[in-house]
Amino acid sequence: MSGKRTPKVALVPGDGIGPEVIESALAVLQAAGGEIEAVPFEVGLGRWKRTGTALSEEDLIAIKDLDCVLFGAITTPPDPAYKSVLLRLRKELDLYANIRPFKGQRLNLVIVRENTEGLYSGIETIEDEEARTVRLITRRGSRRIAEKACDLAKERQKLTVVHKSNVLKSDRLFLKVCREVALKRGVPHDDMYVDAAAYNLIVRPEAFDVLVTTNLFGDILSDEAAGILGSLGLCASANLGDDRALFEPIHGSAPDIAGKGIANPIGAIRSTAMMMQWLGRPEVSQRMEDAVSWALQTGMTTTDLGGSYATREVTEALALRLTDMSH
Ligand code: NAI
Ligand code: MG
Repeated sequence: MSGKRTPKVALVPGDGIGPEVIESALAVLQAAGGEIEAVPFEVGLGRWKRTGTALSEEDLIAIKDLDCVLFGAITTPPDPAYKSVLLRLRKELDLYANIRPFKGQRLNLVIVRENTEGLYSGIETIEDEEARTVRLITRRGSRRIAEKACDLAKERQKLTVVHKSNVLKSDRLFLKVCREVALKRGVPHDDMYVDAAAYNLIVRPEAFDVLVTTNLFGDILSDEAAGILGSLGLCASANLGDDRALFEPIHGSAPDIAGKGIANPIGAIRSTAMMMQWLGRPEVSQRMEDAVSWALQTGMTTTDLGGSYATREVTEALALRLTDMSH
């Protein structure tokens, strides 16, 4: 997106700590000089309990009309009648690429996770004696995720395709297509079995730059990477389609700490910075990233990172820092 009109953003704070971290991210965005027109949507478990619908058709139509979505987190109860809102949004908006950057003392990599098929295809049955989930991998799905990953790897160093093709036929297709795309685009690439990748993330993290992988593997490896960095609360993501996008911290609604005012807002702030980059405001994005780096370096952090500050204190310190910097 380009041009200087104020972008219109669907705001979905969600449940649990979702609203707490989104409030913080918006305050920091404002201090960084980022202007958006936020259109709020009540989506998630709270809405479902009140009305029986977590995300309505009208919401979907309205959301599709806006520039992008900024999302907090939602609670998915273990109730078969409840359909995951996030999975539905990813499908309806065809947000096939989940981009998750991890940068810290021990890691500097990006996980590119396929977001629409694999073991999350939704093709499944459950009976008393047997249950099945279809791990759907298509050439089209693999090609478009490989293309997104190659775009990123071209600006960085190399691509690693993470798979389990020694056991899974579906991953033979995934690997083959990823290699074809990387070759065609002249992107340096290698590949690794997912179990080896899980191990190497811990013992040899410098082996990785851009990783591309299927849905479930990407889900698991990203929480592992967040653990290596020190907290799920630090990490951000962009869910991208061809011209749509949804930005969200990778953590969930954290019911164990919701309402206590201690959630780490950095994942949500970094997600908002990724959104501003996508909206064509790289200077705002950079200011937000710099402020976050400053907070981490000076120990201005929440308790999940060993700090002693509340969400509000971290937010105020970041906002003050950004306001001071602009004078
Ligand atoms: P979670 O990410 O909500 O929490 C895991 C652990 O990390 C908890 O101990 C929590 O306190 C901590 N944590 C997470 N974010 C934090 C933050 N910003 N600051 C400090 N600590 C943080 O995952 P969990 O507990 O497995 O799931 C809770 C609910 O969230 C479930 O209903 C689940 O379905 C949903 N969920 C939603 C997601 C989304 O909306 N994108 C993603 C993952 C889970
Ligand atoms: Mg996850």
